[in-house]
This record gives sequence, C-alpha cells and structure tokens, in this order.
Amino acid sequence: MIKAGIIGGSGYTGGELIRLLLNHPQTEIDFVYSTTRAGKPITSAHQDLLGQTELKFTGEVNPEVDVVFLCLGHGNSTSFLKENTFGENTKVIDLSNDFRLQNDADFDGKHFVYGLPELNRAEIQSANSIANPGCFATAIQLGLFPLAKAGLLNDGVHINAVTGSTGAGVGLSATSHFSWRNNNVSWYKPFTHQHLGEIGESLGSFGNSVGKLFFLPNRGNFTRGILATAYTKYNGTLEEAKELYNAFYTDAAFTHLSDEALHLKQVVNTNQCHIHLHKHDDLLLITSAIDNLLKGASGQAVQNMNLMFGFPETEGLLLKAGVF
Ligand SMILES: NC(=O)c1ccc[n+]([C@@H]2O[C@H](COP(=O)([O-])OP(=O)(O)OC[C@H]3O[C@@H](n4cnc5c(N)ncnc54)[C@H](OP(=O)(O)O)[C@@H]3O)[C@@H](O)[C@H]2O)c1
Repeated sequence: MIKAGIIGGSGYTGGELIRLLLNHPQTEIDFVYSTTRAGKPITSAHQDLLGQTELKFTGEVNPEVDVVFLCLGHGNSTSFLKENTFGENTKVIDLSNDFRLQNDADFDGKHFVYGLPELNRAEIQSANSIANPGCFATAIQLGLFPLAKAGLLNDGVHINAVTGSTGAGVGLSATSHFSWRNNNVSWYKPFTHQHLGEIGESLGSFGNSVGKLFFLPNRGNFTRGILATAYTKYNGTLEEAKELYNAFYTDAAFTHLSDEALHLKQVVNTNQCHIHLHKHDDLLLITSAIDNLLKGASGQAVQNMNLMFGFPETEGLLLKAGVF
C-alpha cells in the first residue's frame, strides 16, 4: 500500500480523488488537507461518503507520503509548494495549470511531466512530478492526436465544446448560480481559452505543422461532462480516418473509437474518453466526450499515479457510467 495526501480536499476534484482512492486497492489516504475545514469529518463536505470513511480534514501535511495530489486553483499550487516541503521520494501530481506549459515545467528542482498517458506514457512512468492536463484540453487533444501525428492538421481546426458546471469548481459564481445556469446555455472566452496553450504544445510535439485552432467553449446546464466537436479539412475516406485513430489508440486503456454517434452520459462517472468520426464532403468531424472530473481531472490523476508506481493502469478506475 502507498500513502497518499490530498491538498484542497473540500473542492470538486479533491472530493473525486477521495472517492477514487478510498476504493483503490493499493492506496491508503494518509491525510486530506483543508484550509477551511481542519478537524471536521470528510463527510461534512462529501456527504455521499457517509459510512465509507472516518477520516477528518487536517490543517497539517505529512511530508513523507508517497504521493501528494494538489487540487488547488491556478497559482495556489505554486504558493503551496513554496510554503511546504515534501520528502525527496514524494511524488507530486498537480491538477492546476501552474506547471503544464514547457516554460513552467521546472519549479524548485522538480520537472513536471505533462500527464496525458495517451501522449506521454513512458515519460509518466519514470516521472516524479506530473502536471495533470486541463479538462477541455484532454477532450480536445484526444480528439486530434491521430491527425496531428499524421500531419493532417495543416488547415484550421474549428472546435466547439460544452462543459458541466463542476468544471468551474465548488465556489459559487454568477454563472454557476442555479437560477442562472439552470435551463441556460452560453459561450465564454471565445478563441482565447487558457487551455489553448497546452493543446498547441501537445499537438505540435509530433513535429508536424498545426493550423490555427478556433475554440468556442460553452457552459451547459448539467453538472458533469464535456462534449467536444472539432472539424477540419480531410481528403481521405472515413475508413482511412478510423484506421488512423484505431492504430493510434491501440494501447490506450481508456480512449476508444465508437461507430455510433456519442452522447455525453455514456462517459459520465467513468475515466473513459469516447471518440466518433463523421465525414462530410472534404471535412472530418471529430466528436470526443469525457467526464471533466474523471478523465478530465481526478481519474486521469489516478491513472498517472498507477503508471508512476507500476500499478495496472486501470486500477481503481473501472467505473460504471450512469447512462439512464
Ligand atoms: N473542476 C474540474 O472539472 C477540473 C478539471 C480539470 C482541472 N481542474 C483544476 O483542478 C484544480 C482544482 O479544481 P476544483 O474544481 O477542485 O476547484 P475547487 O472546487 O474550487 O477546489 C479547490 C480547493 O482548494 C482549496 N483552496 C482554496 N484556496 C486555497 C489556497 N490559497 N491554498 C490552499 N488551498 C486552497 C479549497 O479547499 P479547502 O477549503 O478545503 O482548503 C478549495 O475547495 C483547479 O486548478 C482546476 O482548474 C478542475
């Protein structure tokens, strides 16, 4: 058994990590640190865990845990690591965007590997620190990697994606208020979303030129999941495109090509990414779907932990979708 610590335990990704790690056969939760709930039971924030854990939030960290997950907002991971030192052998998995870009990947003697197993499995296996990808970034990259590798993203790519309200974290804001969000849809940050940086770096890592990415993020009136569509010029046949995707994802534990058009609930509550391809004239339409809190955050963090510690990649992550 390895010992894990969680920082930011009362938030959404922290809560998902607690749920996953309580059911992980090779991990024991050593502490769950909270700035606002130290001394209170975990179940005071995560009531669904009643009867599953007696753990309490702490205001102190154990610096000798085997792995620590930082479930903090952007900038707070950097501050936290400046103020808290962990043992030489403690592996760090950060869920914020503090260390995702190549220019930010080296911090305080640590080198953060971008933790997308479909791109970097071997590097993750030998990494000590991981920058876990963004949720939109995960859905979009997984939808585009096979084309990027084949050098077929030279023309612009138009991307439209819709996310559930948990994507914005547990804090209440005007656009996560029930009265605003319910029965409502809106776009935000058109063409400028912060995940474009990490998407561009990963797509470019295959060494082929990548056309401009036009990304429109949308807020949906549901709580979990991301459904992303992207289209670009493609002169091959649909069968050739499917071969490209199936070949790229042959060894992927959680990313699968579907012959059927996707709906969001087929991946919600799972660590899966499902992808569907559709050809129209000279365009290829790629749809990808993930759960933002699992494959888009805490599930992918556990997948990375499994790879770093040599556990089976799917350990603790074979989850059931809530389809109906
Ligand atoms: N939500 C998603 O779908 C998603 C997906 C991918 C990546 N991410 C990224 O993952 C990170 C966490 O997201 P989240 O949705 O879990 O956010 P969240 O629900 O807002 O939770 C963050 C938690 O951090 C703690 N915190 C706040 N300020 C802090 C500080 N200054 N120092 C230490 N702890 C502090 C708080 O917990 P305590 O009160 O218990 O201390 C807060 O509940 C973010 O960087 C986010 O962008 C989120």
